Amino acid sequence: MISDSFKRDLLNRVDIVDIIQRHLQLKKAGANYSACCPFHNEKSPSFTVSPTKQFYHCFGCGAHGDAIGFLMEYSGLGYIEAIKELAAGAGMTMPEFEPRFGKKKEESGPDLYDIMRRATQYYRDQLKASPHAIEYLKRRGLSGQIAAHFGIGYAPDGWQNLQAVFPDYGDKSLKEAGLVIENDAGKRYDRFRDRIMFPIVNQRGFVIGFGGRVIGAGEPKYLNSPETPLFEKGRELYGLPQARQAIRDAGRVLVVEGYMDVVALAQHGVGYAVATLGTATTPVHVQKLLRQTDEIVFSFDGDTAGRKAAWHALELSLPATLDNKAMRFLFLPEGEDPDSYVRAKGTAAFEELVARAEPLSAYLLAQLRARVDTNTAEGRSRLVHEAKPLLKSVAAPGLQLQLLKQVADIAGMSQEEAERLCELRRSAPAPGAWQRPAPTKVARAAVKSFELSLLEYVLTKPALAAELSGDIIRGGNLEAKALLALCEYVSANPDVDSEVMLIDHFRGSPYETLLKQVRSELMVLGLTPEQAEGAFRDALPGLERRRIHEQLNELQRRNKAGALSPADIEMMNALTKRLAALDRPPGANRPVV
Ligand code: UTP
Ligand code: MN
Repeated sequence: MISDSFKRDLLNRVDIVDIIQRHLQLKKAGANYSACCPFHNEKSPSFTVSPTKQFYHCFGCGAHGDAIGFLMEYSGLGYIEAIKELAAGAGMTMPEFEPRFGKKKEESGPDLYDIMRRATQYYRDQLKASPHAIEYLKRRGLSGQIAAHFGIGYAPDGWQNLQAVFPDYGDKSLKEAGLVIENDAGKRYDRFRDRIMFPIVNQRGFVIGFGGRVIGAGEPKYLNSPETPLFEKGRELYGLPQARQAIRDAGRVLVVEGYMDVVALAQHGVGYAVATLGTATTPVHVQKLLRQTDEIVFSFDGDTAGRKAAWHALELSLPATLDNKAMRFLFLPEGEDPDSYVRAKGTAAFEELVARAEPLSAYLLAQLRARVDTNTAEGRSRLVHEAKPLLKSVAAPGLQLQLLKQVADIAGMSQEEAERLCELRRSAPAPGAWQRPAPTKVARAAVKSFELSLLEYVLTKPALAAELSGDIIRGGNLEAKALLALCEYVSANPDVDSEVMLIDHFRGSPYETLLKQVRSELMVLGLTPEQAEGAFRDALPGLERRRIHEQLNELQRRNKAGALSPADIEMMNALTKRLAALDRPPGANRPVV
């Protein structure tokens, strides 16, 4: 919709320091500027702005981006709005915007975001005209104001109502957006009929899907948009854009199960809740939330299903733990959900539940304890055995150590003994030191292997892994093997785009510990995907050079033994030539080493 060249010009025209300075007090710190991070609570500044690179980065929570990203995250603007605001400030108009938009329509059909926007407006208009839908929302305790805050609408009964908004009802994009369904006979009808409509809005402020609730009884209770090019359930959280300010104010986010839980909580002044979309919590969810706040409280029903879901959330959260962030677990009384609870007991009682939510560590240890009989040697050994995979997957070194101590304590053994049984040896220095930019960084960088550097780049930008081929990665060390495994995995799963997903996939594999160490290192380095990509490209010739040297060495060894065939000699010449080409800096002619 907005051309890359316009975006580039715009970013060249504005100064990120200027933009951020309007919102935060920046202090000069060397070549950069620093401030306390606006995206998480902190007392000492770990948020830096680089005037040369024109991006911001927080060493505490990992938030980073350019001027557009800052406005989106900080002011909660949509992508287009952020660009508009920047353009206005820089005296630039967006000439191509409208015409290009129109032209694109002819080429590839209407824009899916635009379709969703128009549908949302339609459903909202219909709500105003539907007394029984309004009556339903009122009965559930919602005000018009809250309904508007969440853009709630109503899809009227009838088969082809959307024809009123989209005269070209047969257009393929309507189906692509998940708004219409086509039966086997090729006949089309509206997916959502006689349902309360909850628009699902992404971080950029665009509607990407809907959840539709039946009014009264009926199956299914909630009908959701299918997965579309815009909407991927495992990545999105309902209510996140609406909750952004409240999350910042409260310093925490509450993860609940249902649309109505989010909306009802907001109605009662608890604005910091978001919901997973009929799926279990995913690592992507956790990662997304930890970037915005310091504390996640997961809420679950008090029944068996709720406890199972809670344990699942715990397991997948362990690889995402950070020592400066907290996760807690809230269990509602049996038969209640946040909506019913807050309506029956009120805001204060609900906030009390949140305040008393169990810390991750307490929940984990209580669960472990409950599984075994700690009065027997067998039970205590089993406890350590069951703790092992959990402890190993804890990414936060401080938390891991704390848990280890407690597990050892419960099992009646020394910390060293438990550590050995759980195979937890970390090569890292004293706990906590990894969070500060360590003075050893330079020294370590000097001896860092190619593979280790590549792992850093690939964890920062997983798509890079697909570009590595097996024959360029040499050596049988763990780092090389991990790199090959990542390369294979990403090639087969091109949608993997976060290090949390990678680490989650390799949990329990021989590479797990290594990958986590690399990630800790990355927290300190604070690489952006762009930097990682640049460094990755710079490293490729070095890798090839090394491979050629190895091949030449091998050929030379065989030459001494007098075992070279004509083909070998040809190969040797080709390799030497290639090496010379690689080693030649532009304009110079250095001898081959
Ligand atoms: P629940 O069945 O717990 O419903 O589903 P709820 O949230 O309490 O809804 P109300 O209060 O009866 O209106 C929890 C979540 O699971 C998904 C939805 O995301 C829902 O919010 N769900 C549930 C579906 O996707 N489809 C369904 O048929 C039911
Ligand atoms: Mn409910």
